[in-house]
Amino acid sequence: MTTSLVPTLPGRFYTDPKVFEAEQRAIFERSWMCVGRAEEVASPGRFLRTEVGGESVLVVAGRDGEVRAFRNLCRHRGAWLCTEESGAFARAIRCGYHSWTYGLDGRLLAAPNMREMPDLVKAEHGLHPVRLQRWLGYLWLNLSSAARPLNQQVEPQLRARLGGPEVLERYGVERLGLARRITYEVESNWKSVIENFMECYHCATIHPELTAALPQFASGYGTVSGGVGTGARFAEHVEGFSRSGAAARPRLPGLLPEDDRIFHGVILRPNVFLILVPDHVALFRLVPVAPDHTRVLVDWLFDPDAMAADGFDPAGAVELLDITNRQDFEACRRCQLGMRSSAYAGVLVPAEHVITDFYDYYRAAMR
Ligand code: FES
Ligand SMILES: [Fe+2]
Repeated sequence: MTTSLVPTLPGRFYTDPKVFEAEQRAIFERSWMCVGRAEEVASPGRFLRTEVGGESVLVVAGRDGEVRAFRNLCRHRGAWLCTEESGAFARAIRCGYHSWTYGLDGRLLAAPNMREMPDLVKAEHGLHPVRLQRWLGYLWLNLSSAARPLNQQVEPQLRARLGGPEVLERYGVERLGLARRITYEVESNWKSVIENFMECYHCATIHPELTAALPQFASGYGTVSGGVGTGARFAEHVEGFSRSGAAARPRLPGLLPEDDRIFHGVILRPNVFLILVPDHVALFRLVPVAPDHTRVLVDWLFDPDAMAADGFDPAGAVELLDITNRQDFEACRRCQLGMRSSAYAGVLVPAEHVITDFYDYYRAAMR
């Protein structure tokens, strides 16, 4: 039997709603999930509503400036407290059904006719808290009270990909500003989006612009599949990771000369990808919506000083990655169509064997 071809997961893992449901419980409700930028809740009362696994969660900045997260669930009869995606609460969070009212810190403050319920202990009916951490300028939530801290989720992955956390630290992601966000509705399972980002066997076929900038990618091996610590070097004439190949900006302040003209792709399971290049960073955030639908939000992050300078224009950088993303997501969509076939039995070639690392993670998480 041949060993150069390794089987993919069976097709139903990409198409079956029952598998998707099980993933919500086993992975997305037990992992740290990146849900948005910290600056979106920077002042008292600002909130955002997000979905983690099967749960709706509110992230709210308190009057004390502290940001907290709660399940979007009234303790009275369970109404969603909030249906908007973002906004600001004036002073409190009032349920629109019977007006139970909670502080921005989640405590139950008042309910109509409270005097009829002398035995109601307010402290026992506050909003259900959700764990929240801040990292890279983003908000990360974990629905599980038993989960390890975020750094224990990401550091082993950074070590495996970049040799350690120091390389990422040099890019100073937490101090970068958001120059552009594009939201892609990808008609594909979330696992295919991850698998596609891991391998570069497809690069020569579908990414002419990308392989022109990063010639190594035409070999079938990218940075995730290329081994620990390896970055891809820009083509000779290329100065920046942009459509024209121009670097409009100086390198990010914390970088070393050895980071010049180098591209890194990093996956932080289960829902984040990073692209690190000398003058900017792109952060991808996956939101699994359905077995065949993944929302992917991509943020282009630049140095705030560069953004404030005359003539700052992220368009060239955005364009190169955007073209690449659309090529990738169309390929994922086509795979999704085929995975429904009863004859589906995919195989990984050697340049894709790295994807078995993801399968190992996935099988362990689902056990
Ligand atoms: S369900 Fe919220 S106050 Fe009744
Ligand atoms: Fe690709």
